[in-house]
Amino acid sequence: MCGIFGISSTKPISNQLIKGLSKLEYRGYDSAGISGHGIKNQLVTIKATGPIKNLNSKLYKLQGITTGISHTRWATHGQPTLKNTHPHLSGDICTVHNGIIENYMDLKSYLKKKSFVFKSDTDSEVICHLINYYFSKSANMQSAIISTANSLEGSYALAAINAQTPHTIYSACKGSPIILGKDVSSNYISSDMTPIVDHTKNYIPMDDNEFSEISSSDIKIFNKNKRVLSKPTKVSKINKNQASLMGHKHFMHKEIYEQKAIIEDMINRYVGKNKILPNIFGHSTDKLLEDIKHIHFVACGTSYHASLVAKDWIEQFTTVTCTAEVASEYKYKKINVLPDTLFVSISQSGETADTISSLKKALKLKYTNTLAICNVAESTLTRLSGMNFLMNAGPEISVASTKAFTSQLFTLLLLTAIISRRYDNTEKRMVQDIRKIGKKIEELYEMEPEIKKISTKFKNKEHTLFLGKGASYPIALEAALKLKEISYIHASAYHSGELKHGPLALVDRRMPVVCFLPDNHLARLVLSNLAEVEARQGQTFIFTNKKIAKNKKQVKVIKMPDCPDLIVPILYIIPAQLLSYHVAIKKKTDVDKPRNLAKSVTVE
Ligand code: G6P
Repeated sequence: MCGIFGISSTKPISNQLIKGLSKLEYRGYDSAGISGHGIKNQLVTIKATGPIKNLNSKLYKLQGITTGISHTRWATHGQPTLKNTHPHLSGDICTVHNGIIENYMDLKSYLKKKSFVFKSDTDSEVICHLINYYFSKSANMQSAIISTANSLEGSYALAAINAQTPHTIYSACKGSPIILGKDVSSNYISSDMTPIVDHTKNYIPMDDNEFSEISSSDIKIFNKNKRVLSKPTKVSKINKNQASLMGHKHFMHKEIYEQKAIIEDMINRYVGKNKILPNIFGHSTDKLLEDIKHIHFVACGTSYHASLVAKDWIEQFTTVTCTAEVASEYKYKKINVLPDTLFVSISQSGETADTISSLKKALKLKYTNTLAICNVAESTLTRLSGMNFLMNAGPEISVASTKAFTSQLFTLLLLTAIISRRYDNTEKRMVQDIRKIGKKIEELYEMEPEIKKISTKFKNKEHTLFLGKGASYPIALEAALKLKEISYIHASAYHSGELKHGPLALVDRRMPVVCFLPDNHLARLVLSNLAEVEARQGQTFIFTNKKIAKNKKQVKVIKMPDCPDLIVPILYIIPAQLLSYHVAIKKKTDVDKPRNLAKSVTVE
């Protein structure tokens, strides 16, 4: 979703701004723009719809600029057209904005009465005019930005430059992140660390209701009372080489293939011979987890599907009860928190607005503690949460999440094992199963040629059904999400037992029905549900092991390696990820950047 990147330097920066914007591409966007101080400090702006490379032919206009701000826009208010592309201009002031201004209609009519002329349909443009309005009164940019922030309702990360105060970038944030990067003769402002790590690892995250002023030599952070805050500089752990394709055609493919190494690395770090290593969720957390009676999981998208698997695991192996809520619902619900309840948020990016506001709500409730399971160390979620677990799966660039999902599942499996410690030998048995995951994933990669062949059968379909039961149901949900995200084929997932209550009406010989059928105590029931599909001549594609496959000669079976039931969700999703990938390749979609979607959903 929208991204901000700005630099104030002693050297020309236009190429660095373009490079930085490209690093933010993965967040999802549909237009981009840059503004900087040009000759005699007049503001120069270039904008383009579509890919960032469309800015290249206009880049000459920015030659020599040493301070500038840039933006990738993911349309919310107003179509992805040039007039709605940031930066917006008002008098001598240019601004870029991430977030949503909820009272923009009121502000717009107020500003129109003051003779400000609006050129876009965006909510963001009011910010630019407001700063201009307050600057005309105070002639002081700090005061103008603070007064503007006081007038805004909603969420914002904003950056501004002013032709009258050259070589300085001003910013403010509330509910949408801003990170400041610190170097010797250049300083940076960005929505996340990805473009900053190319230049420096030193950074300062801004907190809500803080303001900053950066030049090539200085970073000043202050609060609403203009009191300068002294905030420590942190050192990022992100490695800039992690975000390259390494010979794969797409990031999604690369990330699918990284899953084995990531999980093996997590096993080495967290799993002992018979036990999970002590306090992997933070200081004294084993004691806390020993006493927990309930868990509330909150997440969005793929991360939500991980929480559904965790609920199944934890309730199956322990007496701890769990709820799993989509964050956009949790925020608006009455939540009853019983004693000894842990709040767990799960997020790849740690920047998903709904998940962050759910955590903020949870922090005010009577939870024993809050745990964030996240992939990005320097994210808002990890900064706010009481306890953190960093998956360290490396940057996930493809919008469709793959390695983050299996890393989340693995983390949740560790959580399950730790909680199960209260009961006899359960943890030891789980550890034995957990240790098998890496080798089994290797076997799954060998299935790719077969999966590629099967993908042909989906290429011309408009609809697909996915079925699962128990812990395989969230896998069906995740597999359906993968297919619709990148191949644009409508896909719905059902508990296999729910088929007869409606979806069966859709089944005929044209309908592909994908079923996850691990060889466990539920298999007999799922087989009966599949018989209902086969009787209506639906095209079944069954992921199952050799033993069950033996009796299913008449349907398409994708043979999975035998594995302990506990690790089925982690293994069964991987060929489904490959299936979606190959369908998308056949449909020639933009695999890593599917239409209309964003990697980091920073608006509610
Ligand atoms: C977006 C992404 C999904 C992701 C979801 C939640 O919709 O496209 O892949 O699952 O956000 O993101 P999070 O970073 O919180 O896991």
